[in-house]
Amino acid sequence: MIRIDLPRFERFEAWRQAARHLAGARVPSSQVIWADHDAAPDLFGAEPLPPPGNAPVSATRDFLDLARTVSFHSSPERWTLLYEALTRLQRERRFLKNPADPFVARLETLAKAVRRDIHKMHAFVRFHEVPSEGPRRAFAAWFEPEHLILEAAAPFFAKRFSDMDWLIATPDGVAHFDGALQFSDPVARPELPTDASHELWQIYFANIFNPARIKVQAMRSEMPIKYWKNLPEARLIPDMLADAPRRVRAMNEAGASNAPAYAAKVTARIRVPRQIAEPRSLPEARDQAAACTACDLCHDATQTVWGHGPVDAVLMIVGEAPGDQEDLKGRPLIGPAGQLLRTAMAEVGLDPEAAWLTNAVKHFKFTVRGKHRLHQNPTAGEIQTCQWWLDLERRFIQPRLTLALGASAAYSLTGNPSPLRGRRGKIEYARDGGPVLITWHPSMILRQKGQGAAARRELLEDLAHARAIILA
Ligand code: URA
Repeated sequence: MIRIDLPRFERFEAWRQAARHLAGARVPSSQVIWADHDAAPDLFGAEPLPPPGNAPVSATRDFLDLARTVSFHSSPERWTLLYEALTRLQRERRFLKNPADPFVARLETLAKAVRRDIHKMHAFVRFHEVPSEGPRRAFAAWFEPEHLILEAAAPFFAKRFSDMDWLIATPDGVAHFDGALQFSDPVARPELPTDASHELWQIYFANIFNPARIKVQAMRSEMPIKYWKNLPEARLIPDMLADAPRRVRAMNEAGASNAPAYAAKVTARIRVPRQIAEPRSLPEARDQAAACTACDLCHDATQTVWGHGPVDAVLMIVGEAPGDQEDLKGRPLIGPAGQLLRTAMAEVGLDPEAAWLTNAVKHFKFTVRGKHRLHQNPTAGEIQTCQWWLDLERRFIQPRLTLALGASAAYSLTGNPSPLRGRRGKIEYARDGGPVLITWHPSMILRQKGQGAAARRELLEDLAHARAIILA
């Protein structure tokens, strides 16, 4: 057997180099032991690495991205799986494109767990201010991820907190930042002081907590209990949950903050697509929407573009209507505006895959100019006709917060047709009573061609606000 010892940091790069060498020498997976830095030494001695072979070895970008993600998983078998994937890729270039292949599904499951863990780390690291020896303020945090994700998660903090010195200690190593990001071996869990920034978190959290809308199950899955001990604001949770029924009663007695009167008018105007029985599930609603002919947009569009995301998403994001690419692929917000949104979400630590992304109108509206299909804004009537579907999505998803991108989404959700200036960044209430945070549509930022920096900053601010609300 050939044993490959992998280092604690830059493991993926080390694996990649060794895997390329072994695959080039046509060494079968059964002949290789991949040993993590903390694996026991091999008592029986291992064979030396064979000389490089001449078999050509190449990897696709998709494979490398997936392999890098999987490499952060804590499962000891991941290296063998990746080596098997690399050797299979030499024979079958497209096998990763088949999600029904059990081997691909296994890799995707590992990658998904890693992505989720990185998302949790971005959301739940809480820094404590510590005495600084230099001109910059210094912060430290302790975090216990499920997987070996420190190297994958740390660049986010380096970008976000580039003007301070910080370190994040985990049981598997420490990330340090002082203008440059570095990693070192683990240390014992440090004693971290409580400080003013923690009090601020607690005050903020207590203020945005709405006792009438708690979904304890969703809260536990979004903010698993194991993270609570390191979150200053989580100390408030048991008391606030215990007090929630009393606060809901008090809110009811005081009169709930219902959606304003124009919302009722809009609700009365919603047209129910003809001959439709109330669907009993989200997939049933999606199938019905696929055949919707309630307005004329269905005639020219390729397909109904239904929402996308997990059914238990706590955040719903509503755009205006699908564009050219969305119409062709059948997925919302994947074109240029969607890309801008997804990048901005990632910058503030929101996982686009964890949100339900959808549109106020489910069919592409366009005019043809030469070879191009140019987007057109839907009319108020088209938005109202499509509200039936958006309302169904909302009923099944029950998001804790909805982000309205632009005026059409804001109108569809709240019934308020006023321009966005003055409303952006504020919470309004949907016709069903749920909170809606209003923000700019990313295509408005794209249209400003390089002049949209201020609007982009505001979009980021609103996304960060949304993140704080859904994590509360
Ligand atoms: N713009 C939107 O509002 N939604 C999409 O899905 C794409 C572009």
